[in-house]
Amino acid sequence: MSVSFDFSGKTVFISGGTSGINLGIGEGFAAAGAKVFVISRSQDKVDAAVASIKAAGAEAADGLSADVRDHDAVKAAFQACAERFGEIDVLISGAAGNFPAKANQISSNGFRAVLEIDVLGTHHVMTAAYPHLKKPGASVINISAPQAVVPMVAQVHVCAAKAGVDMITKVLALEWGPEGIRINSVIPGPIEDTEGMRRLAPSEDGMERVRHTVPLRRNGQAVDIARMCMFLSSEEASYVSGVIVPVDGAWYLGGVGTALEATLKDLETHK
Ligand code: COA
Ligand code: NAP
Repeated sequence: MSVSFDFSGKTVFISGGTSGINLGIGEGFAAAGAKVFVISRSQDKVDAAVASIKAAGAEAADGLSADVRDHDAVKAAFQACAERFGEIDVLISGAAGNFPAKANQISSNGFRAVLEIDVLGTHHVMTAAYPHLKKPGASVINISAPQAVVPMVAQVHVCAAKAGVDMITKVLALEWGPEGIRINSVIPGPIEDTEGMRRLAPSEDGMERVRHTVPLRRNGQAVDIARMCMFLSSEEASYVSGVIVPVDGAWYLGGVGTALEATLKDLETHK
């Protein structure tokens, strides 16, 4: 991955950093010379991600398995990161859960699972990170989704969850700003080759239809999101905090609402 940023000597912690977009962000910071620490539930995924982040050029990489719903496990991961790599310059909170289902088909447990991973998990990551964040100077980024701002059928749980994540971003920008911590949300558009899009548009045809709903007429790559995270974490963005940044080819301006029609037809067929 070619990047024009320099994060040599900086420590980057990524929750959910073991696959898809968040792994791409880790590889981006790695190519810029950072030390990268990742967590997710599966130790196998952690091991594989650490290897690919090292291969991408990281000064060092490490990780632990931890479920963001378990506050103690998340605290232990931050402690391990601090012992290994010192204080955190960049925190990316990206762990999330999603499945397409209409509200009537979502059980209490299904709704709770997504809310607990996305909203409670983000709160756990923020509060466990806080003692280890560089003050002043840390950059925190929550990975949100278009569902936070555009209502989408079959996504009531994710819409509620990601809107909550963006409110955490805004409240912490107020609370942590005086200590020199900046916090922003990044909203990825439809990103190719990710679990999220495999769930929402499970065929090549589906992804092609989604592409036509994006004003720039292309689906995104993880590197598009990595570059925005590096910009927001750089000196160039030192006065930017509390904002929600779509990186989506202008998808959120309209296309999002219709993008999942093919998936919806499948849901209707199978209900
Ligand atoms: N439609 C309706 N309900 C669903 C569902 C679907 N497609 N998939 C899961 N659920 C429900 C389950 O039935 C269960 O409810 P129940 O106990 O009432 O039956 C509930 O969700 C929890 O499922 P479970 O598999 O036990 O939860 P988990 O905590 O192991 O996993 C998920 C959480 C469901 C979000 C799972 O999809 C996951 O781990 N996702 C992480 C990866 C991901 O979603 N990536 C995409 C980008 S965010
Ligand atoms: P992904 O590969 O499934 O990424 C999710 C990551 O979170 C994985 O590393 C997963 O690893 C981890 N995770 C899930 N539940 C967890 C938990 N309870 N505790 C700790 N880690 C957990 O999906 P993705 O599509 O790349 O999505 C990444 C982020 O981008 C998400 O925040 C998503 O909402 C957002 N997003 C994606 C798209 C898209 O086009 N894909 C668009 C907009 C927004 P384990 O399974 O090992 O836990």
